[in-house]
Amino acid sequence: MSDLSKIDLNNTPNHVAIIMDGNGRWAKKQGQMRLYGHNFGVESIRETLKAARELKVKYLTLYAFSTENWNRPKEEVDGLMDLLVRSLSNEIKELSDSGVRLITIGDLDGMPEYCQTELKEAMETTKENSDLTLILALNYSARWEIVNALKKIVQATEQGSLESAKIDADLISDNLTTKGIPDPELLIRTSGEHRVSNFLLWQIAYTEFHFTEVLWPDFRKEDFYKAVLDYQSRERRFGMVSEQLT
Ligand code: IPE
Ligand code: IPE
Ligand code: MG
Repeated sequence: MSDLSKIDLNNTPNHVAIIMDGNGRWAKKQGQMRLYGHNFGVESIRETLKAARELKVKYLTLYAFSTENWNRPKEEVDGLMDLLVRSLSNEIKELSDSGVRLITIGDLDGMPEYCQTELKEAMETTKENSDLTLILALNYSARWEIVNALKKIVQATEQGSLESAKIDADLISDNLTTKGIPDPELLIRTSGEHRVSNFLLWQIAYTEFHFTEVLWPDFRKEDFYKAVLDYQSRERRFGMVSEQLT
């Protein structure tokens, strides 16, 4: 029986974030180059989007490229950038027709020009959609984003447009690239790694984590259902005790 039938559709996460990991190991197992794994990972994104829509998830954030990933071999980085542009141009019509709005988080200015152009076009095409917001984390680093927020806040206080007494958690959230996006309730990481790798450090203060051994290119709808089911089995106490939650 599919896990889908066990899911309480009234209690699905509003925002799911995914660290899509394991493409290289998946390729290696098939005796192929790492890029072969990245290519297959696109199908997993398609499947995940379908599952997220079925479960009425409103925000899906995918960690596609970290700032640290620039340190990989040049052919792999170039291949990933080409794959991004190719996938966007192949998928944008379907995404748009199915009510998906695409946005990005991270330092977009640091992406190659041709990627920025394709991304901006995709964002423009889908900007009126509201069924699901697909957030691609590109050239993303949570520490970069926090440093950047701090700089903006300090600058505003120095210029006199902000009183330091007004600095609070909401103000910090509003200065991150995730401004306006609710924090994720669920974070999934594939490939058996149990770390955060500089992803959404501020936003995951109360997020539930689901780790799976499945390598990203093998990730399918059933794996997404499993993660949501796991999420629904958790008691989210937010610092309180069980008895206070009813
Ligand atoms: C995740 O898969 C994709 C990116 C980081 C771009 P990896 O490429 O990290 O795959 P592994 O972890 O080496 O198997
Ligand atoms: C995290 O995966 C980044 C993305 C999925 C884009 P990595 O494979 O780069 O992370 P580490 O190096 O294992 O921590
Ligand atoms: Mg990895």
